[in-house]
Amino acid sequence: MDRIRELINEIREYGVNNDVPIMSVESIDTISNIIKENNIKSILEIGTAIAYSTICFASIDGIEKVTSIERDKVRFSIAKSNVLKSKLNNIELICDDALNTVINGKYDLVIIDAAKSQNLKFFNKYKENLNENGIIIIDNLDFHGYVGKSSEIKSRNLRQMVRKIEKFIDFLDENQEFNVKYIEVGDRLGVCKRKNS
Ligand SMILES: C[S@@+](CC[C@H](N)C(=O)[O-])C[C@H]1O[C@@H](n2cnc3c(N)ncnc32)[C@H](O)[C@@H]1O
Repeated sequence: MDRIRELINEIREYGVNNDVPIMSVESIDTISNIIKENNIKSILEIGTAIAYSTICFASIDGIEKVTSIERDKVRFSIAKSNVLKSKLNNIELICDDALNTVINGKYDLVIIDAAKSQNLKFFNKYKENLNENGIIIIDNLDFHGYVGKSSEIKSRNLRQMVRKIEKFIDFLDENQEFNVKYIEVGDRLGVCKRKNS
């Protein structure tokens, strides 16, 4: 097994054992295929955690740049150390609240995998950083099977969060700018491509 694969497996194991939420292997594989099929060269990721997905995507052949934003200082420092171990030089990590970060460049792919209640804000903010033919991918649109069943949820906080995801999905379905495809992998991915692309 090559060095990067070994490191990726170690990071995944650490995430699972320490309750760090990371993407499922199936979601990583699906997004990796989208990256290859669409000749993606640059990625902006919202929600680094410990840089598991960051390193998975940055290690794909042809990826020139991955910028990833994480607000949690402890996770950010683990992410930094993992990126150092990877010896990849195409990753830029930013420790900040992504709701406030100013990113100037344009990217071929924006991945939204941070606070699920803020999906709409992230989408509207970071679509401005998307290249003309770029793609936006949002993870966890099923939120562990709760989406579509918010009225049955007893916990007020969880119900409010799931309602926000449901509203976000309504927004995606009704929006005029992007075509949206849902992929039933992991916790459901939303894949958005501009209508004119
Ligand atoms: C699901 S995890 C990311 C997992 C990572 N993409 C992976 O698959 O390896 C979500 C992360 O987003 C971070 N986060 C949540 N809201 C954020 C915000 N407003 N700005 C930056 N990071 C945020 C959380 O601290 C958490 O570590």
